[in-house]
Amino acid sequence: MDCKLAVIKGDGIGPEVVTEAMKVLDKIGEIFGHTFDYEQILMGGCSIDATGVPLTDEAVAVAKSKDAVLLGSIGGNTSTSPWYQLPPNLRPEAGLLKIRKELGLFANLRPANLYEELKGACPLKEEIADRGFDMMIMRELTGGLYFGERSTEEINGVLTAHDNLIYNENEIRRIAIKGFDIAMKRRKKVTSVDKANVLDSSRLWRKVVEEVAKDYPEVTYEHMLVDNCAMQLVKDPAQFDVVLTENMFGDILSDEASMITGSIGMLASASLNETKFGMYEPSGGSAPDIAGQNKANPIATILSAAMMLRYTFDLDKEADAVEAAVKQVLKDGYRTCDIVSEGTTLVSCSEMGDLIAERIQ
Ligand code: IPM
Ligand code: MG
Repeated sequence: MDCKLAVIKGDGIGPEVVTEAMKVLDKIGEIFGHTFDYEQILMGGCSIDATGVPLTDEAVAVAKSKDAVLLGSIGGNTSTSPWYQLPPNLRPEAGLLKIRKELGLFANLRPANLYEELKGACPLKEEIADRGFDMMIMRELTGGLYFGERSTEEINGVLTAHDNLIYNENEIRRIAIKGFDIAMKRRKKVTSVDKANVLDSSRLWRKVVEEVAKDYPEVTYEHMLVDNCAMQLVKDPAQFDVVLTENMFGDILSDEASMITGSIGMLASASLNETKFGMYEPSGGSAPDIAGQNKANPIATILSAAMMLRYTFDLDKEADAVEAAVKQVLKDGYRTCDIVSEGTTLVSCSEMGDLIAERIQ
C-alpha cells in the first residue's frame, strides 16, 4: 500500500518523538511491503515563528490532500514563551483547534490501558492497580465550549468574560454512534459522561445518547455525572470500557486516565472524521522542559502511528506488530526516564525508537 502522510513535528519534544514514529513506520513498510510518503507542514509555535500564524491555509490544504496526519505536539511554556504574549487566536493551540475544525475531526479516541510491566508506575493503590484497566475515552472534539463564541469585555466598569457551550443533536448523535460502534468491537459497555443535573447541553446529550443506545441492544449502557466519573477513575478504573463524553469533560478526564497508566508518555490518540481520514498524535503535551534532550518517551507517538495503520489504512496485522513490539520492549526491561524504575534499563528517545523498530516482525 502507498500511504501518503502529512507530518507535523511541531514544538517541544514533538520533532523527537515523531522522528521515532517515522522510524517504526519505515520498518513496517520494509517488512510488510508498504511505502510511507511524508510531507512536513508547520503548526503551532514553529509556524508562528516562520509565518506569523499558528497554521496557514496552505498547510491545511496539504493536510487535506493526504490520507492521514501524524502529529507530535505543539505549544511551549505558557508563562515564559513569547507565543503566549500574542492574542489567543494567534497562539499555538489555536492552530490545533483550527486543524481539528477544518478537517472535521469530531471523534477523538484516547485509549488508556495499564501495561502489566508498568503496574509499578501506576500511582493508585496496589489492589486497584492489580486489577488492571483498559478503557477508550471517546471525546467529542469539534463542538462545545472550545468552539463557542467567546469574549472579554468591560460591563459597567467590571471585566467580564464569557464562553459559549453549544451542542446540537447532530453533533451529539454522530459521536455517540462512533462510541457505540467502537464498544461493539470491545467489551460492549458504554459509560456516557455528562453534567445533566446542571447543564442543558448535558440534558440534550443524555437524550440523544439514550436514543442511539436503542440501536445497540447488545451494549450495556449507563450515564455518569462528570464529577462522579473523575472520582470513579481513581477508585475503580476497571469498571470502564468506552467512556463517551463532550469536548471539555473529555479533555480533563483523558489526562486523568492517562496519569493512572503510569505516564502521559504512553498514551496514543486518534482524531477521526466521517471517512477513513484521521490525525494521530500522542495525548501528552510538548514538554518544553525536556525538549531537545533526547529524553522524551516516543511510545505514545509510536502507538498513535499504530492506530493510524488500523483506522485509516485497515492494516490490522501491521498495527498488531507495532503494539507487540512495544510490549516486548517493555518486557525486555527498557524504559525512558518517565517510566524508569529499579531493575530496568534507562534508554533515550532515539534508543527506544531503535529498540521498538528492531522488534517489529
Ligand atoms: C488536548 C490538549 C488541547 C485540547 C489543547 C492544547 C487545545 O489539551 O489535546 O487534550 O484541549 O484539546
Ligand atoms: Mg488536553
